[in-house]
Amino acid sequence: SPRLVVAVDGPSGSGKSSVSKEVARRLGAAYLDTGAMYRAVAWHCANSQVDLTDPEAVLAAAQGIELVISVDPDAERVVVGTEDITQAIREPEVTAVVSTVATNMPVRQLLVERQRQMMDTHRRIVAEGRDITTVVAPDADARVLLTASAEARMARRGIQLGGTVGEKDLKEQISGRDAKDSTVVDFMTPADGVGLVDSTELDLEQTVTAMLGEIERQA
Ligand code: C5P
Repeated sequence: SPRLVVAVDGPSGSGKSSVSKEVARRLGAAYLDTGAMYRAVAWHCANSQVDLTDPEAVLAAAQGIELVISVDPDAERVVVGTEDITQAIREPEVTAVVSTVATNMPVRQLLVERQRQMMDTHRRIVAEGRDITTVVAPDADARVLLTASAEARMARRGIQLGGTVGEKDLKEQISGRDAKDSTVVDFMTPADGVGLVDSTELDLEQTVTAMLGEIERQA
């Protein structure tokens, strides 16, 4: 099958990860979760006494870690050094501090470089994040922004967290993270040439179908 690079961006709770993973499976492509890389740096800082309020310390930590991330959509795995942190990076403690890492511009440059390298080594790949359509891979074969209404995104995150978080807290967590993240990259409006898929009224299967249609149209 021919070379195919697909870039997907969107806010938290848009269904980006589950949709991109399934799209990668159907296209026989690799899957890169770039958010996992920011989460891995945040996890590492939080677990090795790196001061998250010190931008230079965070950059040094990001430069120093040995981060291995699998690109198999059926076997997600994130490893730092010898430690498997696949589950740990999803914990609320990591989510709460990840924007601090993501708003550190030198850290972004470093991770963007690594993401481009990983994308270069795979002929077919779906990469997902906040700045893939605009910064990491603006010349991808297909570029899609996945959105959903704030209500739908909140409801999905609520379900993911198992209903243990109150609605008000959830709202603050999600909108707070999106607000911080969007100070460095715009993932709410599609850039020129980027297709828009709105998943508000769609289930997973319907969103995958819409995404595949948009990729076909562009690529
Ligand atoms: O997608 P996910 O919610 O796992 O991303 C975690 C965090 O990583 C985001 O809140 C954002 O701060 C950061 N991120 C980013 N750029 C990307 C992907 C993720 O800044 N391309």
